[in-house]
Amino acid sequence: MIPERFIYRDESLYILDQRKIPDKIVYFKADTLDKVSKSIKDMMVRGAPLIGDTAALGYLIGIVHIKKPKKKITKSEIIRILKKNSDILKSSRPTALPLFTATDRMHSRAISMLENKPDILSEKDIDDLKKYLKKEAFEIIKEDISSTQKMAEYGLRLLKLGSTVITYCNTGALATAGIGTALGVITEGYKKGMIKFVYPSETRPYLQGARLTSWELLKNKIPFKLICDNMAAWIMKTEKIDAVLVGADRIASNGDTANKIGSYSLAILAKHHNIPFYVVAPYETIDWSISSGNDIKIEERDPVEVIKIKDKFIAYPDVKARHPAFDVTPSKLITAIITEKGIISPVSKKNIIKLNSF
Ligand code: MRU
Repeated sequence: MIPERFIYRDESLYILDQRKIPDKIVYFKADTLDKVSKSIKDMMVRGAPLIGDTAALGYLIGIVHIKKPKKKITKSEIIRILKKNSDILKSSRPTALPLFTATDRMHSRAISMLENKPDILSEKDIDDLKKYLKKEAFEIIKEDISSTQKMAEYGLRLLKLGSTVITYCNTGALATAGIGTALGVITEGYKKGMIKFVYPSETRPYLQGARLTSWELLKNKIPFKLICDNMAAWIMKTEKIDAVLVGADRIASNGDTANKIGSYSLAILAKHHNIPFYVVAPYETIDWSISSGNDIKIEERDPVEVIKIKDKFIAYPDVKARHPAFDVTPSKLITAIITEKGIISPVSKKNIIKLNSF
């Protein structure tokens, strides 16, 4: 069993610290909105859908802990605090769209609920708001869980019986509140005999593939062998690889997809070897405000994460490095995008829009 990614108890959020996996199972107590934002920034919690769920709970923590006012609190004061809280959450990481959609959804629900309240808010008004936002946060989480199941159902339609696949980063239960996106397809696929073997790629520099995906595969007793990122081409050439499955952090409206740095290289390699390259992601990962991947903001993380593994330097400490945390795979390299609403293939704006009404 994969441990709970978060526990919400007594108005505090306990976040599974994914930086410690596989060594330890440790929960970080995030009882303020700032701590929730920091847990996202520092990658205790990661993976696009789970970041969205955490942001929704972070927004809730922000209102739950509003100090009981000595004098009556005004609606405009509460709105000012909520806006500031949203901005803090949204500044945690730039690329994963669910962080923004979940925060904006919580914020717009709060604002529309406050519309019907008087200018001076009573304690009961604040309590009502808290209850309402708690319900909304758990609704977001419920939707994440159910969409992972549906993505797996659609994903299985594309796989051949007994497939061997390559996957990248961590897109499993640890990246969502449910069974995962790409790794969800793989775990369900294994149960149904569609997947027989997996090559997870280690995913430098943060090693989500080595630390997290291989741990999930072990726990689920799925046969696999871990590969270094630079082995993928050779594995594709020398083994029979039936598909590459990855997740997504943000998809432009033309299908260009931002995902963990290294996904783009895998897509090029898959094209060269005639292997289908599948992106598995909730439909809400599509950013309608941008027309192509050129407009996706790519997070640039601390270069020290490239020259250090855990606490150990693997290069001379003065070495300069780059750390773009994501890259963008052009839609023409993607065979299909698998969402909870259905499969988008060929990947084009027209086909993405078609699914909108489902
Ligand atoms: O930096 P991370 O670990 O948050 O990056 C995660 C990924 O890129 C995943 O592949 C992506 O979020 C899809 S997860 C379901």
